[in-house]
This record gives sequence, C-alpha cells and structure tokens, in this order.
Amino acid sequence: MTTAPDTTEPARPFSPPQRPLLDVEHLTMRFGGLVAVDDVSFAAAPGDITAIIGPNGAGKTTVFNCLTGFYRPSVGRLALRGNGREYLLERMECHDIARAGMARTFQSIRLFPRMSAFENLVVAQHNKLMRASGYTVFGLLGTRSYAEAEAGAVELARYWLEKIGLVDRADDDAGNLAYGQQRRLEIARAMCTEPLLLCLDEPAAGLNPRESAELEELLLFVRERHDVGILLIEHDMSVVMKISDRIVVLDHGRKIADGTPAAVRGAPAVIRAYLGEADGADTDTHTRADTRRDAGMGA
Ligand SMILES: Nc1ncnc2c1ncn2[C@@H]1O[C@H](COP(=O)(O)OP(=O)(O)OP(=O)(O)O)[C@@H](O)[C@H]1O
Ligand SMILES: [Mg+2]
Repeated sequence: MTTAPDTTEPARPFSPPQRPLLDVEHLTMRFGGLVAVDDVSFAAAPGDITAIIGPNGAGKTTVFNCLTGFYRPSVGRLALRGNGREYLLERMECHDIARAGMARTFQSIRLFPRMSAFENLVVAQHNKLMRASGYTVFGLLGTRSYAEAEAGAVELARYWLEKIGLVDRADDDAGNLAYGQQRRLEIARAMCTEPLLLCLDEPAAGLNPRESAELEELLLFVRERHDVGILLIEHDMSVVMKISDRIVVLDHGRKIADGTPAAVRGAPAVIRAYLGEADGADTDTHTRADTRRDAGMGA
C-alpha cells in the first residue's frame, strides 16, 4: 500500500548544488615533445583555498599560465564562473581573463619597484577607472562617475594597505620594502582588482617563519571576508597543510592525488613523488617517518 505524501510538512529550503568557481577539464600543455601538463582535471570551489603542489617541474606554473592566458592550452576546457556568467578561459586573451576576475601573483615578485606601495595598489585598479571614464579622455576630465571611481580606488588601496600592515610605508617605493612586505603587497595588489579567483605562485617562498604566519593569516582573511577562491601553488608544506581546503598533487605533469589535506598527506603516490620511494620499497620506519616530517607531510 502506498502512503500519501504528508502535505502538512513545511517545504524545506532547497538550494541547487553550487557549480564550482573553476572547472579544469583534461588540461594538456605540450611544448614540442615535452608534455608539461598531461590530461589534468580538477575543480575549485568558491571561498576555498585549493593548493596545487608537486615536485619541481611538475607543471604547476604551467597550469597557472594556461589559466591566465599566458599559454594557449594544447587541449582542455577551463571554465571560470561568477557574476552570473561562465567564462571559457582557453578561448580568451590575457587582458580579458583578468577583466573576467582572474588575478595572479608570480613566482618572482613583479611589482612596480619605483612606484610607492600606494601607487601600486591604485594602478591595479586601472580597468575599473577606465570603465568609469567611458574609455574617453573627456571621461577622465572631471565627470562625476570618474571622480567617484577614483575616490573608491583610493579607499580600496587604503583598505588593503591597512590589512597588510603597510599604512606607514604607503609612500615608500615598493622596491625598498622588505621581501615579506613586497609579497603581501603583491597579494593586496591582486585583491585590488576585486577578483573571483586569486592565483598565487609560491607566495611563501623565501619568507621567514614570522612572515609565513602573517601570510597564512592574510590568506585566511581573504577567504573568510572576501569570499574569493584561492589557487595556491606552494612548496612550504606547513603552510599548505594548515590552510588548504583541498589539495591537488601533480607529478611529471599528471595529477596523482586530489583531496583533503588529511587524505593527500597519507596517499602512497604522493609520498613516492616527494620521497622517490620505489613501489613496495621496504623502507626503515624511523627514517621514513623522519623524512616525511621534514617534508611537512606529517609522521
Ligand atoms: N615555455 C616553455 N617552453 C618549454 N618548456 C617549458 C615551458 N614552460 C615550462 N616548461 C617545462 O614544463 C615543465 C613544467 O614546468 P613548470 O614551470 O610548470 O613546473 P613547476 O611545477 O612550476 O616547477 P617549480 O616548482 O620548479 O616552479 C618543466 O619541464 C619546464 O621546463
Ligand atoms: Mg613553478
């Protein structure tokens, strides 16, 4: 006997499953005979920190270069979603990808060293200011919408200077700041473009432990308060394991693991990639635990 549905039960709120902020499907990048990225697929959720890790030459930066339009992928579909739109990045040019909401920092610092910290943050908002000008020179000359956009740009620059603890260095040349301060300024500059997805290529490289802790705090703040997706390439496993929601592991261009920090940390393929163990190698337990701890993979 079938039971009639209980119509007295109040309707439960239904939210459709959220589509990922970023979908990378079958990304392949060849340079002549070298396959730098080989059929890699992964997704990044909005408001998550998704780390991409792997040994040197694994293909991490090449993934970023494909996502940001520096390279045109050999194969693959790269979809960025936000503001009610879906962007197919593999078909777009660098500047259009940046306008769509993709911001990045580089493995080596690329600030304007002879501009002040403040100026670096204002020029990052060039696209917004040009839009407000209507892309005409007359638009720059005293129109209300441009004046408002300019005031907004100054306000946003001040906000990020405060968040990265550099208000008192606002007028100093970016090139004269300490290394860790320049790294934070780069992230602030990327945030001034008000991105959907922030791609950071080894932001902790060369930082001391105090600066690494400040970086972690900044990235967690960005994630919590600005609801920005973060893609994080990083070799410093203590940073990765502490702040990532999800980790994608590459080795020789291929994805070898994808999951939570706890799942990835224990995955045999990941341990092999980092430590170069042969399959089924009978490694001394003490030595292996030590080495794993040194690599930040936990004991
Ligand atoms: N423009 C290019 N032309 C030819 N080969 C390239 C090019 N860019 C990258 N490669 C090669 O692709 C492979 C992956 O390089 P990639 O820079 O993506 O590695 P990575 O994971 O970022 O390494 P690292 O941790 O050292 O930064 C390497 O073998 C590299 O030499
Ligand atoms: Mg790299």
